Amino acid sequence: MKTLFDQTTIKQLDFPNRFIRSATWEGLASTDGAVTPALIEAMVQLAKGGVGLIITGHSFVRTDGQAGPNQLGVYSDRLIPGLKEMTEAVHAAGGRIIMQLAHAGRFASEQLTRQKVLAVSHVKDTDNTSVREMTIEDILELVEAYSKAAERAIAAGFDGIQIHSAHGYLLSQFLSPSFNQRHDEYGGDIYNRSKIHLDIIQAIRRTVGHDHPILVKLNCQDFIENGLSLDDSLQVAHRLVNAGVDAIELSGGVIKTGRLEPSRTGINSLEREAYFRNEARVFKREIHVPLILVGGIRSYELAKVLVETEEVDYISMSRPFIKEPGLINRWVSGDQGKASCKSDNACLESGRKGTGVRCLVK
Ligand SMILES: Cc1cc2nc3c(=O)[nH]c(=O)nc-3n(C[C@H](O)[C@H](O)[C@H](O)COP(=O)(O)O)c2cc1C
Repeated sequence: MKTLFDQTTIKQLDFPNRFIRSATWEGLASTDGAVTPALIEAMVQLAKGGVGLIITGHSFVRTDGQAGPNQLGVYSDRLIPGLKEMTEAVHAAGGRIIMQLAHAGRFASEQLTRQKVLAVSHVKDTDNTSVREMTIEDILELVEAYSKAAERAIAAGFDGIQIHSAHGYLLSQFLSPSFNQRHDEYGGDIYNRSKIHLDIIQAIRRTVGHDHPILVKLNCQDFIENGLSLDDSLQVAHRLVNAGVDAIELSGGVIKTGRLEPSRTGINSLEREAYFRNEARVFKREIHVPLILVGGIRSYELAKVLVETEEVDYISMSRPFIKEPGLINRWVSGDQGKASCKSDNACLESGRKGTGVRCLVK
């Protein structure tokens, strides 16, 4: 029987357990996206706290793709020495760390980037003039930016890469009919809407080879009108796997829709936990690479059931580790009470204020 503490591997990367720290913007990088001592310390605390794999916060691959303040960047070779210091510190603490690559697309912060906002499509009536629809040339340049960013990540010692294609950021905007209204080969049916993903994966493999795992964080559904559907998401997953993606982390929802679907609040009962569990069951039946589930998992008992019944292969959490970086060691020590995170999302506010993402619950 599979257990939470099996030793497993994805490609050459070995895991001491099945717990993953999902990508979480920490708001601890410097204003230009460079690694800081505070960010290194936060990663080391996670590694020492027993989590099997750390995924960095979304790291912008190009300066026009920055979403928030003090976000980690990977847009220049100049950032590599700091990133290297971070991976070395995590490895010295016994941890593993992969880098999440991202571009925020229409959710980039114009205030921070001082550049035009790139959108998959210019949506009539709602978009102002500072939003620019990407040309084919822009798309090709973006593919190159992802591949360069991946090369930097591997040069800096990361154990692999995760491509952020969830929550309404740029690659998720390509998949979503509500954002993607293009009429060229990158718009229309789901085959075309996922073309950029394939282009990026092929470009990354060409650059970094086949030794390191490439993961994708994918929305199971957007949960908005005319958004990505479960059926289409499954088709994307099939294509990704055929293109050599090594694992899928399943999330859902789009930011800035009022209800913060990817990070739901009020997770105060077992029934409200693992809120993409039904979609994960469908994925597990059809997709034959390791499935990582994120979204509201708080109880040790539930994590155990999810793994032992083979509903998922890995348990991923974000907010619980903001409050308790040592959660996994606590569970290992026998204190298996649920994560003390209250899921109120106040941590996001502290990040937006520039004081770092931290738990405000006493
Ligand atoms: C402060 C904060 C920062 C986040 N940053 C990222 C990010 O950089 N990349 C990403 O894919 N998801 C990000 N998320 C979403 C989480 O990774 C996760 O998908 C979501 O919060 C649900 O998991 P949880 O219930 O365990 O928190 C963030 C969430 C929070 C609360």
